[in-house]
Order: sequence, then C-alpha cells, then structure tokens
Amino acid sequence: MRGSAMVELLIGQVLSYSADPFAIGPAAAQHRSRGAVAIEGGRIASVGEAAVLRAAYPQARVTDYGRKLISAGFIDAHVHYPQTAIIASWGKRLIDWLNTYTFPEEMRFADPDYAAAVAERFFDLTLANGTTSVCSYCTIHPASVDAFFNAAALRGQRVWGGKTCMDRNAPEGLRDTAQSGYDDSRALLGKWHGAGRANYVITPRFSPTSTPEQLAAMGALWAENPNCLMQTHLSEQTDEIAWAKSLFPAARDYLDTYEEHGLLGAGGLYGHSIWLEAREKARLVEVGASLIHCPTSNSFIGSGLFDMAGLKSAGQIVGLATDTGGGSSFSMLRTMAAAYEVAQLRGTALHPSQLWWLATSGSAQSLHASDKIGNIAPGMEADLVVIDLASTPAIAQASARASDIWESIFPTIMMGDDRATHAVWIAGILVQ
Ligand code: GUN
Ligand code: ZN
Repeated sequence: MRGSAMVELLIGQVLSYSADPFAIGPAAAQHRSRGAVAIEGGRIASVGEAAVLRAAYPQARVTDYGRKLISAGFIDAHVHYPQTAIIASWGKRLIDWLNTYTFPEEMRFADPDYAAAVAERFFDLTLANGTTSVCSYCTIHPASVDAFFNAAALRGQRVWGGKTCMDRNAPEGLRDTAQSGYDDSRALLGKWHGAGRANYVITPRFSPTSTPEQLAAMGALWAENPNCLMQTHLSEQTDEIAWAKSLFPAARDYLDTYEEHGLLGAGGLYGHSIWLEAREKARLVEVGASLIHCPTSNSFIGSGLFDMAGLKSAGQIVGLATDTGGGSSFSMLRTMAAAYEVAQLRGTALHPSQLWWLATSGSAQSLHASDKIGNIAPGMEADLVVIDLASTPAIAQASARASDIWESIFPTIMMGDDRATHAVWIAGILVQ
C-alpha cells in the first residue's frame, strides 16, 4: 500500500462502529465530538479524543476539520461503471431498459479508449461523492476490466470488479461463449486479483443472459478460485423472475438457477434480492451469502421494495449500493435516503446509525472486507471521508436544531449530495 511515512492527525467529529446497529441499536456507534484519527503508512494507527492523540503524536501533521464529520469512506457494493453515461434514462422497466439504453452503451466499450475515459469519469464522480471503494460490473470486453482497475490503481483505491459474462439474450457484439467467458475471466483474474488493492469478482450478469453451460463454467472458475467473490443479479423484477424461470424450467426458483451451477456460496453477492421466496431466503442465510440493496435503482426502474427489516432480522448479510446507471445517483447519501424511504413504505424507520453503517461497515461486510475497510479502527486502511454537516442552507438550518449527533447527521443523509463531501483520504493520502 501507498501512504506517507509521516503521521497524519485528522481532528473533527469522529464516527466509528463497534457492532452492527441492526443488532444492538445506536449504541453500536461511537461518536467523539472532538475526536481524532492518527494515520501512519496508509493505515489507521489510532482513534481517540483529540487532546489525547495530539499528546501521543506530537510530531504529527495536524488537519483540524472543526465540526465536520470524519467517517470511513462510503462503499458502493454494486455498480455498473460502464453505465455512467446513461444514468437517468427515461421511461423503461428492467428488460426494456437493458435493451434500449444499457446494451447499446456497453457495446461502445469495445473501444479501449472509450472504456478508459468512462472509467476515469466514473471514479471522479464517485470520489466527489465520498465513495472510496466500489464493486463494479465491467462489460463483456476484457479491456473494460483493465480500464477499471487501472483507473482505481491511479487513485490508490481498494476496488472489486469483473468482466460481465453473457452468452445469450444479448446483442451480437456483447456475447461471449461459455468457453471464452471462462478463459477471459480466468486470465483477468490472474492478472488483477490481489494486484495492489484490486480484487477480481467472477461476474455472470444474470441467469437470463447466460446458458446453463456458461453458468456451469462460471461455477467451475469460482470453485477453482474460492477466495474470489462472485456477483450477479437476483429477483429484481417480477417479469425478470418469470423469464429466468422459463429459461430454466427445472429450477426450483430463481436462486436455484445459480445454485445448480455452483454459483451459490458465502462469497456470492446477489444484487437486488427483492422478491425472494422462502426457500431462497433460507438458503441465502444458511450459506452466508450477501444481499445487495440498490434502493434508488429499485425505485427508478420500478422493481420493488426491498425488505431490509425482515431480511436483517433473519440474519442476512446486506450491503448498500447505487447500481448506477439503473440507480439514479452516484451519491451514497442519496442512496441512504432512498433506503430510508423504501423502509418507511414497508413500515420501518431505519435509524441514521443503521443507514450510515450500511453505507460503510455493512457494505464492507458484504464484500468480506470488514477487516480492511468500512470503519475507523486501528489497523484498518485509511480510506476516509470528511463530511460537511451544513453543506447547503436547507441542511444547515435543519441540523442547527439538532440535539444529538443523529439529528445532526440525518438532514445530510436525506438532503445531502456531493456538496457535503469536504475531503477524501485514500490509503492515508488526501485525494479530494
Ligand atoms: N440485471 C441484469 N443486468 C442488469 C443491469 O445492468 N442493471 C440492473 N439494474 N439489473 C440488471
Ligand atoms: Zn446491477
């Protein structure tokens, strides 16, 4: 890892977690109103009261952020960087949206220069929103994977990504085969997995765009590389579920189309997971798989209302994600707001401590990386965001009335955007 040898001491309001607030409530969070984070060699060396850490690190370079909030950087656990340019495309539901907007745009990634340009733009946009790690789909083209990991490496970011495999129900030019999907994925995995902070993710797009042969090939690759994660889509829209079942008539349910081909496991990331059947929920929790909640996308494409309260209380692992360009914002603040609104529509008011945890530690847990990122604790990689809790007049006047930290944060969750990002640190280096 990069990182300067000097100790950096960041002072401000510091928010960290010692547990999952869905399990024990807001007491899972620690808030220090005059706290400090000491960074050394790209990692967090210490977290505590500002006065104590100032005395412990007299030689440190000090940055005093005053009343601003120092948090772990946001982690977007499911996103499609190649869809950056088609965000906010009007009027379609999932399958139509894929055919009308997504596939034509993904075709353009046959040009490596275009892929590199969009990857650069994507990381600029997400960093401006305080997102320090992402788990992204690329396109069918191996060069789109190189563009993604190269752009992340330039910025020093810990990222996950993989070549999106499709060998049916996609246009000519966006299809590989079971064999070439396996071969390309294997070569990219060998090139990128563990290179610096890069993590390769085996990526069959979803059952409707893969033959059983391709799913089996992806399952074989995963079995050969069990330390890799595998990402796909599951139970996003009712039409999609009916289509998946019709393409796999022997499957017990949508999840079974993956399970039968070696694509169900603890390292599996199942995007959306809205309309799960009882057997699917039981199997997902049994294997310890991760469900990725994409609330702006689920509303924008008209998919449905994810059952956060029910799934978390059943012990499911859940991460939070934008799913751009199906999602309508690059901001994890906006994404937390959407998660709050969706939960309200299902009768639960998620607490700000839960929303913030989902966007940081929860996403890290879903990516099996909570020992590295997603929290402020000694030994963790120093990926931090500094948030202005009064970034617009509307937010400032609401947070001015706050009587505790959660009332002071919640207006930024509900109304905040990239203007709330005051600073971003990646591996102990100020990048934004
Ligand atoms: N299902 C299969 N591909 C996609 C995609 O690109 N976006 C979303 N939201 N759902 C999908
Ligand atoms: Zn997706």
